[in-house]
Amino acid sequence: MAKRKVVTLPGDGIGHVVLEETLRVLESAGFQAEYIEGDIGWEYWCKEGNPLPQRTIDLIAEHKIALFGAITSKPKEEAVNELSPELQSEGLIYSSPIVGLRQHFNLDICIRPCHTYVGNPLNFIRRSTDGGVDEPKVDVVIFRQNTEGLYGGVEWSDPPSQVYDALMTHPKFKKNFGKIPKDEVSVSTRIFTKRATERILRAAFDYAEKYNYKSVTVCEKPNVIRETSGMMYRLAKEMQKKDYPQIDLWNTNIDAQMMWLTKNPEDYGVIVAGNMFGDIVSDGFAGLIGGLGFACSAQFNDAGIGIFEPTHGSAPKYASYETSIVNPIAMIESACMMLDFIGEKEISKKIRAAVAKVIVEAKVQTYDMKKMKGAPDVIQKGAATTKEMADAVIANL
Ligand code: NAI
Ligand code: MG
Repeated sequence: MAKRKVVTLPGDGIGHVVLEETLRVLESAGFQAEYIEGDIGWEYWCKEGNPLPQRTIDLIAEHKIALFGAITSKPKEEAVNELSPELQSEGLIYSSPIVGLRQHFNLDICIRPCHTYVGNPLNFIRRSTDGGVDEPKVDVVIFRQNTEGLYGGVEWSDPPSQVYDALMTHPKFKKNFGKIPKDEVSVSTRIFTKRATERILRAAFDYAEKYNYKSVTVCEKPNVIRETSGMMYRLAKEMQKKDYPQIDLWNTNIDAQMMWLTKNPEDYGVIVAGNMFGDIVSDGFAGLIGGLGFACSAQFNDAGIGIFEPTHGSAPKYASYETSIVNPIAMIESACMMLDFIGEKEISKKIRAAVAKVIVEAKVQTYDMKKMKGAPDVIQKGAATTKEMADAVIANL
């Protein structure tokens, strides 16, 4: 049988090293694939004025499955300053290539699981009045709408007059902002559509049903953001009543949810949110279970295209270290989500078991697992390197 083809998108910074180590783990676990590397990230922005070249989009369209490391994004002006000189005057505006990929392929479902790893203490514990400690068991899966909302890219500074005039028809805009000069107004829209909102809700409920989670929590702010958050909660209520009466539907506000995740995180199961609140709450839970070194994700559309990536970024601070110290587990776990997606569940099971064993044994731990501050000397102080962590996983397969 022909080998499966997988597009690799290392991107920037630590994206390279975590992806490289993950490919070694995949190979050692018996996953047979041919990898085709795609160009993406800062280098291509600087050289070509486009961090997401069309050839990369074509590769993903052809092979459908991609493993993505991380990219570096910088603010507008800084980005222009780093363009190669001949591109500087072309009026190019940088936008994140991963956000671009999500929108291009309509990868609207993003799943971010965050669970306690036995042997890796949470980044917080509860203390009772008698001095005892209690470490809650976290098992949360966040469903983030991945293409709309505040990251939809529909935004202006000094908006065009049609937009400004339309805003002026809203009594609240007129009253609160109408006297401010137009060129002092910036607007970022938060657009939710019914179809995409129903799709992320459906994905969340189906997952809760399949894996026996007792609740689905809509984490938005419907009491204040009435139209968009309000629509998501209303649709969730209708869906739950009609199709999932056995699953509890909870409604939390994003701000309160961030407080509760340090108070009673074990109470939550499946959480569903729009793009930005999903991003926030998933980073919150990731921090809780041990940091971004453990946070994996899958994103896919309804046409079988899936991109699998750790939720962390390019961590530029660590990218220049001669020996890499970052934790590859988030990328390895993301690759396991890819394996599940393409039906290679035996291999993903084997890799997850190996990761779990390495963590329980606690002999090989990267700096974040040792709760150290990242610095080049963590290796001398006993932290494992990125490669040593991958070696340990391989040894336990
Ligand atoms: P970051 O995720 O790159 O790093 C934040 C901190 O998390 C690091 O300083 C480190 O302490 C920790 N960390 C991240 N990955 C780790 C790992 N594998 N092992 C151990 N510790 C790890 O986020 P930051 O610093 O906010 O952004 C850096 C760059 O990455 C920016 O240019 C940002 O735009 C980009 N970014 C890209 C993302 C993506 O590619 N999807 C997501 C988030 C940020
Ligand atoms: Mg994030």
